[in-house]
Amino acid sequence: MSKCLLKNEEYLFAYKVLSSVYSYPHTDMLYDIYKNISFKNRNNALNIGAGGAFFDMKISKDFQNYYVIEPNLEATKSYHKEWHIINSDFQDTNLETKFDFIVISHVLYNMNAQEIKCFIEKAHNLLSDDGILLILHHSPIESSLNTIVTNFCPELFNVEKFINTFLKENLITFTTNRLHSKVRIESDEELKIFLKFLLYEDTYNFYENKHSFKDDVDQYIQNYVNESHKPYLLDTNHICYLISK
Ligand SMILES: C[S@@+](CC[C@H](N)C(=O)[O-])C[C@H]1O[C@@H](n2cnc3c(N)ncnc32)[C@H](O)[C@@H]1O
Repeated sequence: MSKCLLKNEEYLFAYKVLSSVYSYPHTDMLYDIYKNISFKNRNNALNIGAGGAFFDMKISKDFQNYYVIEPNLEATKSYHKEWHIINSDFQDTNLETKFDFIVISHVLYNMNAQEIKCFIEKAHNLLSDDGILLILHHSPIESSLNTIVTNFCPELFNVEKFINTFLKENLITFTTNRLHSKVRIESDEELKIFLKFLLYEDTYNFYENKHSFKDDVDQYIQNYVNESHKPYLLDTNHICYLISK
């Protein structure tokens, strides 16, 4: 089960900050990649871990049936009522439908190699014959934002390696694309919620048994704010996988 380490209103604020501070927001990245996919069918689409659903708002009308899986109940309250909304972890879902398009954007955090394998395998099995699975994730390539997150949690360097290993071992056809973006944040409050969201959400599993986890993150962020100058400028890299059935 997902854990809620932020308060509900903090999640919503974090989604808003995430959607507004990138020079090339990942919603735009997703949309640019999406625009260039030639779909044979547009019956069913699914976004796993839709969060603020900014991408979904742009594309859901392109498909006959639009499904979202999102364990955060507060986030799902703003979703279009005509979507099929599944308020659960993906691992706990039992879908019979096949999908022409599946998205997993910035969700595969906190997972070890086995968990990532199961997650992608389950999504891949839900593709229709000509379906496409799009995975967008932070890339471990050096950048100031990735350095903050991986300094705190070096295990996150492994996500790309785990995905590649799984796809290659199973002879699954895929292409990758690297994308770059910059983050500009003006206020301490926004920086704190931005880093808190990234560090809490992305790393808590690795610190499950450590009681001081939240205090460590808060201290790390306070030090970062004290040592940096406004506006806060961070660069970041993403990797996009396009995976066929
Ligand atoms: C960093 S946000 C990304 C949101 C959105 N995909 C985007 O790219 O803007 C990660 C989201 O994945 C959701 N999530 C986390 N674990 C999940 C799981 N096991 N199954 C489905 N969604 C999950 C979280 O609730 C959160 O909304």
